[in-house]
Amino acid sequence: MILPVRGEHRMNIETLEYAQVFESKYAQAYLLNDPAHREDHFREVLHNCLSLHRRVHGEDSSISQQKMYVAAAYLHDLFAWSRVNHHILSHEYVVSGDCELLAIFTPEERHLVAKACLEHRASFKGKFSSRFSEAFNAADLGPPNLLHGLKRAYKYARSTAPGRTPEEAVQVAVDHLIDKYGRNGYARRSDVYVTMYSAEIEEYFNSLEGLQAQSYTPEFLEGI
Ligand SMILES: [Fe+2]
Repeated sequence: MILPVRGEHRMNIETLEYAQVFESKYAQAYLLNDPAHREDHFREVLHNCLSLHRRVHGEDSSISQQKMYVAAAYLHDLFAWSRVNHHILSHEYVVSGDCELLAIFTPEERHLVAKACLEHRASFKGKFSSRFSEAFNAADLGPPNLLHGLKRAYKYARSTAPGRTPEEAVQVAVDHLIDKYGRNGYARRSDVYVTMYSAEIEEYFNSLEGLQAQSYTPEFLEGI
């Protein structure tokens, strides 16, 4: 059976069930992460992978490709509680960890998933080892969406320092977005990402700069 997902791509029922097994197997481990790096994020990255694949290739991915996207989506931030090296830990886990869910892959497919975990970060500077890795990096970044990014950064800012007031947390979130995703930010936008979202990126920069200039009224804070 094929399931439509938000009208942009279709996810096979087998893929969906495979994703659900990851969610239950790693539920406790995900709780160690901050709220911005848990199941909601992984579902969203998976959705982005499938949408990007459809847009790049003009057709839905095969079941085996979808399962590779699932494994990368649910494992790339498995160790996100260790912010500095979680990509390395995740790569190591996919290469040599005791995870029966990865036994379905050929050694080449497992290698691709591991490399995608290693190269997923916005700060990744090297050359992508495969198109799969590049697509996954773009999927993790997600389409330019300022409100969504602000909500996620705000959630992170509040969870990591609960003593912050909402005003302080939103300021931290906006500064983070500017530093990472702004016009001169350090986030990597791969070729595939720029090609996919060329029209939206400039608009994103302008909106982000507008956000930096505005004051954060109670009405504004209610919206995030
Ligand atoms: Fe991620």
